[in-house]
Amino acid sequence: MGWDTGISKMPAIATVVAKASPATIERAKSALSAGRLVAFPTETVYGLGADATNDRTVAQLYAAKERPSFNPLIAHVADLAAARRLAQFDAEALTLAEAFWPGPLTLVLPKLRGCAVGQLATSGLDTIAVRVPNHPVAHDILAAFGKPVVAPSANRSGRVSPTAAKHVQADLAGRIDLIVDGGASPLGLESTILACLGRTALLRPGAIPRATIESFLGRDITIATRSTDAADGGGRPLAPGMLVAHYAPQATLRMNASTVAPGEALLAFGAALPPDAGNARVILNLSGRGELVEAAANLFSYLRELDGAGVDSVAVMPIPGEGLGEAINDRLRHAAAPRHRVLHMTRPQRAS
Ligand code: TXA
Ligand code: MG
Repeated sequence: MGWDTGISKMPAIATVVAKASPATIERAKSALSAGRLVAFPTETVYGLGADATNDRTVAQLYAAKERPSFNPLIAHVADLAAARRLAQFDAEALTLAEAFWPGPLTLVLPKLRGCAVGQLATSGLDTIAVRVPNHPVAHDILAAFGKPVVAPSANRSGRVSPTAAKHVQADLAGRIDLIVDGGASPLGLESTILACLGRTALLRPGAIPRATIESFLGRDITIATRSTDAADGGGRPLAPGMLVAHYAPQATLRMNASTVAPGEALLAFGAALPPDAGNARVILNLSGRGELVEAAANLFSYLRELDGAGVDSVAVMPIPGEGLGEAINDRLRHAAAPRHRVLHMTRPQRAS
């Protein structure tokens, strides 16, 4: 038995479902440390956890969920002190964190230089979504592991978010190592996402009503409307002002390149390089073995590295569209497209 990623059969993993207990927490910690995937309960929905600092594991998480695109993920940590090692909190972000954490609030903040969370987890963005869940099992796993854990909802792409261990089992058995059963998620609705990047804006309505946040802040908050191509219930992050939806390199990307112009950079895939690869100023190979999990893990850091090399154009070799290749091509296409997408802002409409 196995599951089909489109390009290869992944061998089925024996998925263990274990009731939450100190021994299970220890087991979750070991699995996360070993780069494995662990589903666990939070107060909102069950999350599919992976070591946020390990791009390869994060690539495997995308494969297990069959996500067709790389949306940035939320880094979950045990407490505010751990969150402050990842992100820059301005005064308002700090007030919000102190008031609503632990709890179903996610804050999108500037990523700190030297932040341990990998490029794939944040889709190459300079911002990071952080959350401190208020669920004893989630808390204990995060505290035991001691590193940030990315955790999208533990469902297969296109299915509804799971609020019980058996939902996770139905979607992901055979693909992940461990499901920690902590009973039903009490809220059943994902966290509310606020961007604190200057002016606080609502990116995703969720378990904390907007009115609660507005009355706490004593004013209305801006709402960033999202695109209609929302996938996986999360959709793409749309961004007020300085918040960019996608990582956009300075250099122009030339997709499906079979030749290299003098002075271009080459973003390669597989063992067979174009005959004129010698023209390239710099070559980075996403995966010499032509392996999509490895390519996904390298994608954003290589794009940044090529950008840092100061080239005007990057020739990108063809990458197969199956399995994780779909998400890789999706992100490359967005990076190749002219700058930012059009972002819509709406003023909050208040019923008087
Ligand atoms: O309640 C929750 O938040 C659950 C539980 C498991 O914690 N998690 C969850 O994760 O809903 P996910 O991956 O399904 O949704 C994450 C959302 C996506 O819509 C993503 O676009 C947005 O967060 N996001 C993450 N990083 C972002 C960033 N840097 N800028 C804007 N949006 C971001
Ligand atoms: Mg989701």
